[in-house]
Amino acid sequence: MFSIKFRKSKLYYLDQTKLPQKEVWKQCRNISEGFSAIKELKVRGAPLIGVFAAYCVAVYAKNLNLAKDKFIKEIAKSIEELKACRPTAVNLAWALTELKDTLLKNSNKNTAAIRKALLDEAQKIYRQDIELCNRMAEFGIKLIKSGDTILTHCNAGFLATAGEGTALSLIYKANAVYKNIKVYADETRPLLQGARLTAWELSKRKINCTLICDNMAAYLMQKGKIDKILVGADRIAASGDTANKIGTYSVAVAANYHKVPFYVVAPFSTFDLSIPTGSRIPIEERDPQEVRTVLGKIGIAPENIKVFNPAFDVTPAKLITAIVSDRGVIYPPYNKNIKKLLGGI
Ligand code: MRU
Repeated sequence: MFSIKFRKSKLYYLDQTKLPQKEVWKQCRNISEGFSAIKELKVRGAPLIGVFAAYCVAVYAKNLNLAKDKFIKEIAKSIEELKACRPTAVNLAWALTELKDTLLKNSNKNTAAIRKALLDEAQKIYRQDIELCNRMAEFGIKLIKSGDTILTHCNAGFLATAGEGTALSLIYKANAVYKNIKVYADETRPLLQGARLTAWELSKRKINCTLICDNMAAYLMQKGKIDKILVGADRIAASGDTANKIGTYSVAVAANYHKVPFYVVAPFSTFDLSIPTGSRIPIEERDPQEVRTVLGKIGIAPENIKVFNPAFDVTPAKLITAIVSDRGVIYPPYNKNIKKLLGGI
């Protein structure tokens, strides 16, 4: 199962805003369609937006007929525009930086060769992301026991990556082994990635999944119904402080109080070792209408009420039991251990 595909030089994506009611595949024909697909969360999830943006650049380059100097300038400009689309998930900036480096490294070649190099790089990033998901699952499965009940927040599965997911890849692997893993999915207001996407994904995979509203998670922990928590990440600072979908922090606080292990699952491309702590992570703020309405369809608040709508929050490292990466499981002290495992990235 996958959420984007590149076939016969054409880029397609599953429009996630239409899920779970309809599975609609769309073609991304140019850079502005790619830009809106990412901005409007038709394509979403930290690793996936990086992979998709890389393909967008390659597709744009393929159809761009300009003299070499102008061609290079235009591609470089589109890379910067795409980077600004969603500021929190560092995977987007990471993948686009790889494309920019490829562009510059090949700038002495003709435009046909540059186009090929960009496409090769996008395909490399795509294949690598699939592999990273598999490796996280392999390292992380040792944290899961037969019969575990796991709580997750937002969507960190095959809809959010090119492969099986970050947090959900562990659940898929564990369930394949034990056949008895249970999941509680937080609905994840305001855009309901848990209700619309995680519940859909897990049902497709026939995983025993129960949907809850976000404000029910602490109650379940208090009742002893949650064995562990697995979430993905959008950016992890050198200290281990982790940005993920808004609401993750409150889940982590409740988990700490109730002594439920709280695990973050993320590939190396989600780590940003250039920032020491989470206070430096830029937090995307989105349209107030996402809060005043349910998915833009049903108004649930006075039309002009003031709204605050941060899309992510930062969970301090001290609330995180371990971070499962594609290079191994990282335990505190994160400052030291992240650098040891990922220092070379
Ligand atoms: O705004 P979104 O839906 O792109 O946010 C996604 C998340 O916060 C995910 O938890 C994160 O990217 C998980 S990594 C697969």
